[in-house]
Amino acid sequence: MPQQNTEILAATASGISRAAQLLQAGQLVSFPTETVYGLGADARQGEAVAAIYAAKGRPSFNPLIAHVHSAEAARRYVEWNEVAEQLAAAFWPGPLTLVLRLRTGHGISPLVTAGLDTLGVRVPAHPAGQALLQALDGPVAAPSANPSGKISPTTAQHVQAGLDGRIAAILDDGPCGVGLESTIIGLADIGLAGPEPAPVLLRPGGLAAEEIEAVLGRKLAQRDMHDPLTAPGQLLSHYAPGAPLRLNAGAPETDELFLGFGPGTCDLNLSESGDLAEAAANLFGHLHQLDAIGQPIAVAPVPKHGLGEAINDRLRRAAAPRD
Ligand code: TXA
Ligand code: MG
Repeated sequence: MPQQNTEILAATASGISRAAQLLQAGQLVSFPTETVYGLGADARQGEAVAAIYAAKGRPSFNPLIAHVHSAEAARRYVEWNEVAEQLAAAFWPGPLTLVLRLRTGHGISPLVTAGLDTLGVRVPAHPAGQALLQALDGPVAAPSANPSGKISPTTAQHVQAGLDGRIAAILDDGPCGVGLESTIIGLADIGLAGPEPAPVLLRPGGLAAEEIEAVLGRKLAQRDMHDPLTAPGQLLSHYAPGAPLRLNAGAPETDELFLGFGPGTCDLNLSESGDLAEAAANLFGHLHQLDAIGQPIAVAPVPKHGLGEAINDRLRRAAAPRD
């Protein structure tokens, strides 16, 4: 890939309008959301979307999320239904992605959906990300702004370390508050003929499944791990640091760095007070810091309820055997 000069843009009116102009021109721009930094391209421009895959070195069968400024904007691209309305009203803008059927005349590049007839849409809550989506007034395809298989970025510096020279610009607005990617809910089968299917939890993330179940008044169905259509691109080894990772460790062994949770001695602590939201916000940043030291990492057990489900999911992927 040819090197380019990656502009660092401040989250000011002029920085945001420059970012929107670059997206419109088919360039790649990394922008902050409340979950992680995204690597954005105009979702209607096939070549721009192709450049995302090239910059990340990402396997092309992994579909991307389209980011829009409002539920109203989402409805331009997908078939809406009652459950989508209920969840959007409760949680948008926020760390929730809804997978719905594409509408006719949607204009989204098939590279975004990897050829599926569904689209993941999300309305991020970050002020700078929102301002950018409003300035463009179009759908922005954006995976997390890290080279494929590496730890997700929660600061502009993480993005720069992974993608400098490969993208046009980074809109820098400090660290992300949530720190875990959005929760993804599959709603594509709602409203079709036949027995009413349950919404499906496709990926645990920054919004706890329990909160969604409370709004719906029912349990979410679990994704079928063996069905490539409901779980496309859920690569097991993902979010991986360079060093080996050992999970649910009571204590570090010699040479291991210790990533703690709760009170106790460790090299870095996800949350000394045992707060899961704090641990989520710290997860990727702490992994980046320990990884830079270049020793194996042991991780303390993290409870599995609430946001702990997504934290454990990301840790399992980071620890999985790699090629
Ligand atoms: O918080 C987030 O969601 C971040 C920020 C940047 O918004 N984005 C993100 O994107 O995590 P990415 O590309 O790393 O993860 C998108 C995942 C894919 O791996 C895929 O499993 C799922 O979303 N996905 C996207 N479209 C889908 C579809 N039509 N059907 C099923 N799953 C889909
Ligand atoms: Mg990612």
